[in-house]
Amino acid sequence: MKAGGDAPAGQVSRRYAARSDAGEKRLVVLISGRGSNLNALIEACSSGRIDGRVVRVISNRPQARGLDFARQSRIPYAVVDHREYPDREGFDQALAEVIEASAPDLIVLAGFMRILTDAFVARFAGRMVNIHPSLLPDFRGLDTHARALAAGAEVHGASVHFVTTELDGGPVLMQARVPVHSHDDPETLAARVRAAEHRLYPAAVGLICSGRIQAAGDKVLCDGSPLERPLLLDDTMETTKRCAGQD
Ligand code: GRF
Repeated sequence: MKAGGDAPAGQVSRRYAARSDAGEKRLVVLISGRGSNLNALIEACSSGRIDGRVVRVISNRPQARGLDFARQSRIPYAVVDHREYPDREGFDQALAEVIEASAPDLIVLAGFMRILTDAFVARFAGRMVNIHPSLLPDFRGLDTHARALAAGAEVHGASVHFVTTELDGGPVLMQARVPVHSHDDPETLAARVRAAEHRLYPAAVGLICSGRIQAAGDKVLCDGSPLERPLLLDDTMETTKRCAGQD
């Protein structure tokens, strides 16, 4: 494991030092690449839209561009390079130890491109979320935009779900929908979905940090009541009503 960004107290960035409320949740964000969702989460924490703080970023790739967002915000980061471990179990064990050293309330997978072992998932059950670029249960797995276009979908989007041992199969708490245009190719569609993700993930993580949303096995509880279907981004009335059990 290589660590970085553990700035001495005097060097902690102003915007991170400014907020240290007792109630704020500790987030550990796992990335593998670009990190645009990580950036959206960092910004949402600093502006108070999430009552939480990114206490550590972890990448399995040393060259992940997203690590620059951690560096810019002086957030401690670590690289746990999967190539340095003989098997999945060894990597997951090392990763779990780095995560636990940060005592997180929530582990946020943001473009983390590793399949996790069942033991790892069980260790963090109910405390780990992922964002997937489709309206789950449609298009689990990879190449979701090309597959949505090939299927003739008129609406596509992204989902935030609690992580279970089933790949992209855990209970979904919130989704964002975007239209598919007739001239779309996988890149233009991906860009539209990504822009929606940058609002969706902070909104979903914000609800978890505020305590309104929690996992209960294969269900999501919203203000203590099971959610029948995922919340929709941009539907505040629906969110308020359904969380209050008025659906
Ligand atoms: C996002 O599209 C997310 O849905 C998927 O991986 C991508 C990560 O993008 N899981 P970025 O690294 O956050 O820019």
